Amino acid sequence: MTFDIIQLILFILPAYVANAVPVLLGGGAYLDLGKNWNDGVRIFGDGKTIRGFISGVVAGMLVGIVIAFYLPSIFFSSMRNQILGAFALSFGTMFGDAAGSFVKRRLKIEPGKQFILDQLSFLAFALVFAAPLSLPYLFEPLSIGFLFVLTYVLHIGTNALANKFGLKKVPW
Ligand code: CTP
Ligand code: MG
Repeated sequence: MTFDIIQLILFILPAYVANAVPVLLGGGAYLDLGKNWNDGVRIFGDGKTIRGFISGVVAGMLVGIVIAFYLPSIFFSSMRNQILGAFALSFGTMFGDAAGSFVKRRLKIEPGKQFILDQLSFLAFALVFAAPLSLPYLFEPLSIGFLFVLTYVLHIGTNALANKFGLKKVPW
């Protein structure tokens, strides 16, 4: 089977969880420790905290480990690679999320303001980080295309919901 939606969603779930959890568990010290870049603007800004980063990575890994336990080696070639893969997806997500903020700050886009990278950079980095460990079928153009479209749609939907329930100030 080259294109299985359920499998793809399970594969990417650690990244989605890593991306969502900081909204709930973030806070405390800023990832950039409040420091500015050489353009006089914050490196990442108030929206990226150390606790958010770590909670995202840990939560994504936990989900990946549960998936590995129940569905060993359908996404990665072994249980060991599944767990490493969950780490790669989660860490890649938080890295890509911070990288997106870095670019936004350089473009003088304020934290919380919507930007195309909000949806795309975390997924791109998650996939790049996980690629060396994943099974080839996950990297067929149709699978990648599906994941980007799904992520874009879900991100907008869940952020609108988070806003409705008062978890986020803005609906994106
Ligand atoms: N968050 C966090 N630490 C992270 C990532 C996110 O604490 N590493 C929390 C912050 O409270 C943040 C919220 O999750 O405001 C939403 O995340 P996101 O939309 O990525 O940040 P923005 O506030 O929109 O900031 P930016 O423009 O930098 O993306
Ligand atoms: Mg945002």
